[in-house]
Amino acid sequence: MSATPRALEYDVKDLGLAAQGKQRIEWAERDMPVLRLIRERFASERPLEGVRLVACAHITTETANLARALKAGGAEAVLIASNPLSTQDDVAASLVADWGIPVYAIKGESTDTYNRHVRTALDSKPQIIIDDGSDVVATLIKERKDQIPDLIGSTEETTTGIQRLHAINAAGLLTFPSIAVNDAQTKHFFDNRYGTGQSTLDGIIRATNILLAGRSLVVVGYGWCGKGVALRGRGMGANVIVTEVDPIKAVEAVMDGFRVMPIAAAAPLGDIFVTVTGNRHVIDGSHFAAMKDGAIVCNSGHFDLELNLVALGGMSEPPATIRPFVEEYRLKSSGNRIVVLGEGRLINLAAAEGHPASVMDMSFANQALSVEYLIKHRSELKPGVHLLPPEVDKEIAGLKLQALGLSIDELTPEQLEYISSWETGT
Ligand SMILES: NC(=O)c1ccc[n+]([C@@H]2O[C@H](COP(=O)([O-])OP(=O)(O)OC[C@H]3O[C@@H](n4cnc5c(N)ncnc54)[C@H](O)[C@@H]3O)[C@@H](O)[C@H]2O)c1
Repeated sequence: MSATPRALEYDVKDLGLAAQGKQRIEWAERDMPVLRLIRERFASERPLEGVRLVACAHITTETANLARALKAGGAEAVLIASNPLSTQDDVAASLVADWGIPVYAIKGESTDTYNRHVRTALDSKPQIIIDDGSDVVATLIKERKDQIPDLIGSTEETTTGIQRLHAINAAGLLTFPSIAVNDAQTKHFFDNRYGTGQSTLDGIIRATNILLAGRSLVVVGYGWCGKGVALRGRGMGANVIVTEVDPIKAVEAVMDGFRVMPIAAAAPLGDIFVTVTGNRHVIDGSHFAAMKDGAIVCNSGHFDLELNLVALGGMSEPPATIRPFVEEYRLKSSGNRIVVLGEGRLINLAAAEGHPASVMDMSFANQALSVEYLIKHRSELKPGVHLLPPEVDKEIAGLKLQALGLSIDELTPEQLEYISSWETGT
């Protein structure tokens, strides 16, 4: 607490948790070698000097290491939570007390407090917004148009946020450049697939302590996250059923060896359901009504509307809390119990710690380099949704391999010439 600068404003649960938070932030840093290299370069080159920045992210140990890198680069960063249930209160405390970074985030904050924090962050007049789900950008566009001329640009962490950015752009309202961090290969190939795959199961297990082996696990959505959840679920012995609306993804799931069927057919079969679609009400009232007694239902998609909990509430007695993050609804019609985890919010962040650091290392390397890119190219970047150049993706993967102590082959001049030409056939 003594390290807190006098003028620092913040809203965290308890600064007394800072010592534990610092230890955990430093533990995560051990598995974030790429971000550490970027932080060291930023500290000497100061490419973000004096830039006012708002980062809306899950306030986890990994995000803390991103914030350290941004600060080392010279940014004046303010942090807010991107979800009311994903904040780690000890991490928020340590960022304030040990690194002097203003944080407005408390685990379990109400939607009103969450929205107030978004507005407080916007009061700092950011020139760069790091967003996760596009709530800050959407609030800026709806309520703070006068601040848009100050904005150099934004970056977006997740699939749902990028969908919203494309919709904002289609409505003619995206008047600044935004970098789609999620669309970098070193982000979604690893974070969405392996990160969500492992940490979603981690959240389910920490909340319930159930055995996955022999259970039917229904994965709703076979995108990057769904593939990871299905793969890791099978690895732990679950019988995995996939539901989809995209025929290509559905064929892929079949060829990956999973059973594929509509959710109405899967509802009576599943023991555990996970939604990862970025879409609303993919598990609806009729599906809850068809489920087995004791079925466990959760979501790992960005927003808490994938499960229609309003419909479930209307069909049930008032829910009872059985354990932390575990609520049981008893259906009035059949008496069956439906167990909902983490209030339908991202279960990997609500009941566990989110993705492991080694996968966030690459995601946040992309974030840090995107911020630098926006600043370096501010005069030429046009409004709209942009990708980081593919060389940056390759550079991040190369650094990761180096950190893993691995090396790979390089193309010989002969091979390079061959794959760049058309004359040589059989
Ligand atoms: N929990 C986390 O930590 C975490 C991490 C990364 C992304 N996300 C979020 O997870 C969600 C999914 O992300 P992604 O990268 O896998 O997206 P994606 O676009 O790769 O996959 C989503 C899939 O859901 C399918 N889908 C849509 N509506 C459906 C429905 N009604 N029934 C069945 N399938 C349906 C789509 O066809 C698509 O294949 C997004 O909201 C994203 O922001 C969460």
